[in-house]
Amino acid sequence: MKDNVILTGFMGCGKTSVGIRLSYALKRTIIDTDKWIEKKQGMVVSDIFAKYGEAAFRQMETDCIKTLIATQDHQIISTGGGLPVREENHALLKELGRVYYLKVSPEVVYERLKGDTTRPLLQSEDPQERIRELLSKREPLYEKCADSIIEVSNKSFDEIIEEIVQKETDRK
Ligand code: S3P
Repeated sequence: MKDNVILTGFMGCGKTSVGIRLSYALKRTIIDTDKWIEKKQGMVVSDIFAKYGEAAFRQMETDCIKTLIATQDHQIISTGGGLPVREENHALLKELGRVYYLKVSPEVVYERLKGDTTRPLLQSEDPQERIRELLSKREPLYEKCADSIIEVSNKSFDEIIEEIVQKETDRK
């Protein structure tokens, strides 16, 4: 198993923001799977969804994880919110490193992402209901492939970072 620190969780849980702060705290560089895919495809995620569809994007995520396993170590890797939905990715994530699931409530996601236009899966008539429905379907999958679950809804960034850094320190 590799020594990467992986962040998973629903859209809006703070993977990117936590990842950036964590990269300072742990002195590691950060890779974001969405950004990695966007760079490779030369277009943003919403355009990839529109042009090739969600299934093709999911395959790109699996390909991305396989490439990261082959090429990266000692990194922080923040993942797209749907990546743990594919069962195939669970074993790959385990191989890639330690998985921290940032668990967030649907209310916090809605507050953070209302008005967002960059997430194709939330462009719905009723985003609040869509968030609730998607999150409850995904929760067991996030939990299944996590090594640690970090509740983030009512915590500051400092508290979240401290919790992860503590777990990383205890491991040694
Ligand atoms: C998705 C989450 C997004 C992005 C894509 C699909 C999902 O990433 O990968 O829009 O299925 O939850 P973020 O979690 O970084 O928003």
